[in-house]
Amino acid sequence: MGKKLIIETGSVEHSRLVAKAVASVLEPGSVVGLIGILGAGKTEFVRGMVSGLKGGESIRVHSPSFSIVEEYGTKPKLVHVDLYRISDPEELETTGLEDVVESRDSIAAIEWFDVARDFGLPPALVVEIGIGQHDDSRLMEFSSDDPKYEPVFRTLARITR
Ligand SMILES: Nc1ncnc2c1ncn2[C@@H]1O[C@H](COP(=O)(O)OP(=O)(O)OP(=O)(O)O)[C@@H](O)[C@H]1O
Ligand SMILES: [Mg+2]
Repeated sequence: MGKKLIIETGSVEHSRLVAKAVASVLEPGSVVGLIGILGAGKTEFVRGMVSGLKGGESIRVHSPSFSIVEEYGTKPKLVHVDLYRISDPEELETTGLEDVVESRDSIAAIEWFDVARDFGLPPALVVEIGIGQHDDSRLMEFSSDDPKYEPVFRTLARITR
């Protein structure tokens, strides 16, 4: 059975802390699929994730809109993909996303994941971010059909209690 959980954050720092907690329990080979409009907080989520991985505390995260794929030297390695500029799923083949699929020793975080849904990626933890009641609040909906993300749901349940 699939799992789903919604968290409301009240600030960018709060969002980063949630992402940090998520990243700290992800296994290598995980795929985090980020969905949300411009400015929703997808890149901020990746920023939090990097800080939650070994060696990531001082790494600077930029949106890889032009390069499409950026890699950070965390342990495990985090591969940050931004598909904003990809309009045709066929273009995905030129992005290096396939290498991400094959390399089961890194974690992938993919912005505009909607574009890659049918690309044959490993099962993802999908994070859909929407704007909340205030400018600085965000609704994050976490969902996955794969049991390998159960630690994430346990962690999220714990930090929201
Ligand atoms: N609770 C919050 N969580 C995350 N970001 C927030 C929050 N409140 C305000 N913000 C602001 O929203 C913006 C999110 O920007 P970010 O670059 O992460 O969005 P994005 O979804 O990656 O957009 P893009 O599609 O342009 O890449 C930042 O300016 C951040 O400061
Ligand atoms: Mg972004």
